[in-house]
Amino acid sequence: MTADAHSIVSVRDLQVRFQTTDRRATVKAVDGVDFDVRRGETFGIIGESGSGKTTIGRALVFLLKPSAGAILHDGIDPLALPRKQFQNHRRDYQIIFQDPNAALNPRMTILSSVLEPLELAGQGTRAERLARAREAMDRVGLPQEIGERYPHQLSGGQKQRVVIARALTLRPKLIVCDEVVAALDMSIRGDVLNLFADLQRELGLTYVFITHDLAVVSHISERVAVMYLGRFVELGPTESVSERPLHPYTQALLSAEPRPLPSSMRGGERIVLEGEIPSPIDPPSGCRFRTRCRYAQDVCASRVPDWRELVPGHWVACHFADRPNFSPN
Ligand SMILES: Nc1ncnc2c1ncn2[C@@H]1O[C@H](COP(=O)(O)OP(=O)(O)O)[C@@H](O)[C@H]1O
Ligand code: SF4
Ligand SMILES: [Mg+2]
Repeated sequence: MTADAHSIVSVRDLQVRFQTTDRRATVKAVDGVDFDVRRGETFGIIGESGSGKTTIGRALVFLLKPSAGAILHDGIDPLALPRKQFQNHRRDYQIIFQDPNAALNPRMTILSSVLEPLELAGQGTRAERLARAREAMDRVGLPQEIGERYPHQLSGGQKQRVVIARALTLRPKLIVCDEVVAALDMSIRGDVLNLFADLQRELGLTYVFITHDLAVVSHISERVAVMYLGRFVELGPTESVSERPLHPYTQALLSAEPRPLPSSMRGGERIVLEGEIPSPIDPPSGCRFRTRCRYAQDVCASRVPDWRELVPGHWVACHFADRPNFSPN
C-alpha cells in the first residue's frame, strides 16, 4: 500500500471488530474506512453516537489494534517497529477525550499530572522536565500557581487545558481530539477551540477532530468526513460538504441542527431522521443508510454504493448522489 506524500496518517480499509460480552456476536464498529490526514490540517469526523468515531480515534493512535486493514504514520507501519521504538513512536500521536476528570488523577497536583508523561518517557533531567511542563502550562494559558492545586479545585475548562498541556509536553505531531469541548459550558467552548487553533499555528500540529456537533466542525476543520454505522458516507472540504451535502444522511444531519449554524450551513427544509441507528452487529445489506433514507430504491438493498469523487476532493457513497435532485419515492 502507498501513502500520499503529504499524509501524516494514511488509513486503508480499516476494520475494527469487538466481541460482545457474551462472545456470541461481533460488533463491526469500523467496517472499511479509507482516508488520509494531511500534515498541518484539521480533519473533522462527524456522525451520530454509535457510528464508530471514537473507535477510529483510538485505532489512529494505536490504543487498539485494527482487526484488518492498515494505518500508516508518516508512511511507516508502527506495528512493524520493534517494541521500544513503537513506544517512542506513539508519543508523537496523542489523543484527548471528552472528560478531563477521567484523564487526571484526583490525588495528584496539577504540576505532577503535567509532568507525568515526561517522567514516564524519562526524557532529559528533572530540571529540564520541569521547565517543559511549566512551558506547556504557559502555552495553554494556565497560571503557574495552579500547578500546586488539585483537579477538584479547577473549573472544567481549566481541567481540559491541563489535559492539553499534558499532551503537549511530549511535543506530538498529531492529536486526536475526541469530543474535547462537549463537556464544557457553552460560554467557554469558543475559548478552548481558539486555544486549539492557536497551538496548531504555533506548533504546526495536525488534528483529527471528532465531534457530533456540526458547529464545532465548521469552526475548526478544513476537511470533514461524515460517518454512519462504521463507514464514511461523505468526505470533502468542510465548506463544500456543508454548502452542498451530497449524501442524504449529511443533508438530514445539517437540516436537523437545532443551534445557530453559519448561514452557509443552514439548509432550507428540515429533514427528520426517523428511527435509531441500526446495530453494527448486523448492519443493513447494500447501503447501510437505506433503512432511514427517504430516497431508498430496490438497488440500495442489493448493492453497496461505490465511494466516488463527484466533485474534486469531495467523495460520497450513494447510488444517486450525482442526480441533481433526489426524488422521494
Ligand atoms: N470495547 C467495545 N466492546 C464492544 N463494543 C464496542 C466497544 N467499543 C465500542 N463498541 C461499539 O462499537 C460501536 C461504535 O462505538 P464508538 O466508536 O464509541 O462510536 P461513537 O464514538 O461514534 O459514538 C458502538 O455500537 C459501540 O457500542
Ligand atoms: S444509496 Fe440509496 S439508501 Fe443509500 S443514501 Fe443513496 S439513495 Fe439512500
Ligand atoms: Mg465517541
